[in-house]
Amino acid sequence: MEKAPIGVFDSGFGGLTILREFTELLPDYDFLYLGDNARTPYGNRSYESVYEFTLQGVQYLFSQGCHLVVLACNTASAKALRTIQQKDLPVIAPDKRVLGVIRPTTERIGDHSANGHVGIVATAGTVSSGSYLMEIQKFFPDLHVSQEACPMWVPLVETGETDNPGCDYFVQKHIDQLLKKDPDIDTLLLACTHYPLLLPVIRKFLPAHIRVLPQGKIVAEQLADYLYRHPEIEINCGKNGTRRFLTTDSVERFNEFGSRFYQSHIHAMQIHF
Ligand code: DGL
Repeated sequence: MEKAPIGVFDSGFGGLTILREFTELLPDYDFLYLGDNARTPYGNRSYESVYEFTLQGVQYLFSQGCHLVVLACNTASAKALRTIQQKDLPVIAPDKRVLGVIRPTTERIGDHSANGHVGIVATAGTVSSGSYLMEIQKFFPDLHVSQEACPMWVPLVETGETDNPGCDYFVQKHIDQLLKKDPDIDTLLLACTHYPLLLPVIRKFLPAHIRVLPQGKIVAEQLADYLYRHPEIEINCGKNGTRRFLTTDSVERFNEFGSRFYQSHIHAMQIHF
């Protein structure tokens, strides 16, 4: 089998915060990123749309040779991953693999809380899917988990409006609502790829003793562990340290905004499904 990059799919820019951690931890591996910026955000879309769009992205990455694709998007992981793994993969590509970000995060989340009270902030789609609660139940059944949907946070990040009183208002509002649900939270999981860019604002309104957990590092560590445990997949991953970026929308905008998420320069190519 020909060696190929690890595919990383997201609805747009957000997955670049996850890719950043992948490249830090696994610098030798080749990565091919695809952002569906033309149809972002996925956060408030129906199951059907998120599934249909995500499957198109995965198939495109397969057509580029990828043997392994990571859905670096919580909404796609919550609403599309299971169907793709169970229904589509056995038919379209039985030897290929698609992973998400929710399972690797939930496998470790309980290790980070001292008192067993965890808060989760995410898009409305991720929260309403119940995926985090279902997965956490398997690994940490005694963990006390409260969720808060923050529908304005992605648009604030996407428009670069993170440094003004309007942004403060929406961040404080959801932090306060979450703390009302459970005042004992000692760990806050940022279960959306955009939220690391709001970290300074979140910190402003979160009591200092609460630990903030961005998921990129956890997912990267779990990917490294997956590659170690699956030599039959790992052997097909190219290791020339290449990074390529694809977007379904304007390249100029992707290069400019994407660099903020990726914290390094990006030269993307536009594709159409
Ligand atoms: N990448 C998405 C997530 O992690 C956020 C952006 C969107 O709503 O599409 O949930």
